[in-house]
Order: sequence, then structure tokens, then C-alpha cells
Amino acid sequence: MELEELDVLGAYASWAETYDDPNPLIEAEEPAVEGFLEGLEAGRALDVACGTGRLSRILVGAGHEVVGVDTSGEMLSHARANAPGASLVLGDVRRLPIADGTMDVVVCGLALTHVSTIQEPIAEIARTLRQGGRLIISDIHPVAAATGAQAFFIRGDGTRGVTRNHVHWPGEYVDAFRSAGLVIDAVAEPLVGESFVEEMSEGETRDAARVAILGLPLALVWSVHKEG
Ligand SMILES: C[S@@+](CC[C@H](N)C(=O)[O-])C[C@H]1O[C@@H](n2cnc3c(N)ncnc32)[C@H](O)[C@@H]1O
Repeated sequence: MELEELDVLGAYASWAETYDDPNPLIEAEEPAVEGFLEGLEAGRALDVACGTGRLSRILVGAGHEVVGVDTSGEMLSHARANAPGASLVLGDVRRLPIADGTMDVVVCGLALTHVSTIQEPIAEIARTLRQGGRLIISDIHPVAAATGAQAFFIRGDGTRGVTRNHVHWPGEYVDAFRSAGLVIDAVAEPLVGESFVEEMSEGETRDAARVAILGLPLALVWSVHKEG
């Protein structure tokens, strides 16, 4: 199979047009994120690495005043259509263009696998939260990333690309949360479902994947709050 390996910026520049196609990782992750968002009072919300605006749209729908930040101009241009009502700005998780302590709710969906270490980004995200504010972070599960799940994608013209995922074990998250003054309230680990296996080409690869990975964790979703 021909596959072009790209850096993160290059990957999302060419993935943007098909990013909103069905995605088994999002199918597994989204109900957990929505469950953690349920019941939160509407306020100021930040969507870090908002991509095409999937979580911004959910936050706007729940009545929050939303700012979305992402490094990819191409992903943001889709977010403008998907999440009208959100303010969308270019920016990096390591230097967010957001004032200290101004956010009631922050989400960061499926993005920290693209940075090599999470201590600095989690401290930077925590900086934007008010005391008592809620942070929900999802990512590909480290078991999946460590056993070969990279960020594969198919462009509109059928060509394939990939950017590599970094592995962040739960222990790294726990340390980063603790150093940033964040308290863990809940964690969810949605599992690999049949739709993930069905995405693979028919035959031995699919049969092997069914035996090897069905039922293993696919996403890791944290709900934490800022002390105070
Ligand atoms: C898998 S997509 C997730 C998009 C969206 N959060 C969602 O869950 O649908 C990962 C996103 O992270 C963004 N990203 C990667 N590295 C980033 C960084 N250092 N700062 C901000 N955004 C980043 C990419 O441009 C991409 O839009």
C-alpha cells in the first residue's frame, strides 16, 4: 500500500477535506466526552486543537461561548462551517492565545498524541482555566498507539497519508495533571469495536485484527478540574 508519511502540519493540511468522514476512533470517544460534558453550566469554553470543530459544535449547542484554537488553517476553515458561532483562531497548545484563568470549560480532543511530551501542554491548558473549572481531554489510548495505531488517513483523491502518534501512558497524564494543579474526577477507556475492524481490507488482515485488537482500549478520556 502506498502511504505518504507527513509531519503533523502537513498531515492535517491534506486530511482536512476528508477528516469529517466516519472514524471509528471518534465513534468510540465521542459518547464518553459528551457524557463528561453533560450537566456542565454554560459558560466560556475553549476547544484546544479544535480541528474541524467537532467538539466546538457540541459546546456551542450546549450554550457555551466557544473559542477554538488549532495550528492548522485548513482544519480551521472546515470548523468555520461546522461550528458557526465559535470564534476560531490559529494557535499552538504550547502557547495558547488565551488569558489566564478565563475559561470555565476546556476540551482537548484526540490531539495530545501529536506532541512529544504532555507536561508543558497540560500546564498551558490548565493556565487558561479558572479555579474549579472543568477540563476534558481525550486521546487515542496508549495501548493502541504503542501497538501500531498511527494517524492514517485517506484523501479525497484516494491517496493515503499518515502522521505518527506519540505514546502517552496514563502515568504521564497523572503526573502532568498533578503538577498543573488538576484533580482527576473520572476516566473512560472506550474499546475497539467492530467498525474499527471493518475499516481494514477484507481478508487475513481483518481476521487477524479481529482476534488481536477487538475489545482492547481505543481511546482514553479524562475529566479533571482545577483545584481551588
Ligand atoms: C485528530 S485531530 C482532532 C481534532 C478535534 N479536536 C477532534 O477531536 O475532532 C488533531 C488536531 O490537533 C491539531 N494539532 C496538532 N498539534 C497541535 C498543536 N501543537 N497545537 C494545536 N493544535 C494541534 C491538528 O491540527 C488537528 O486539527
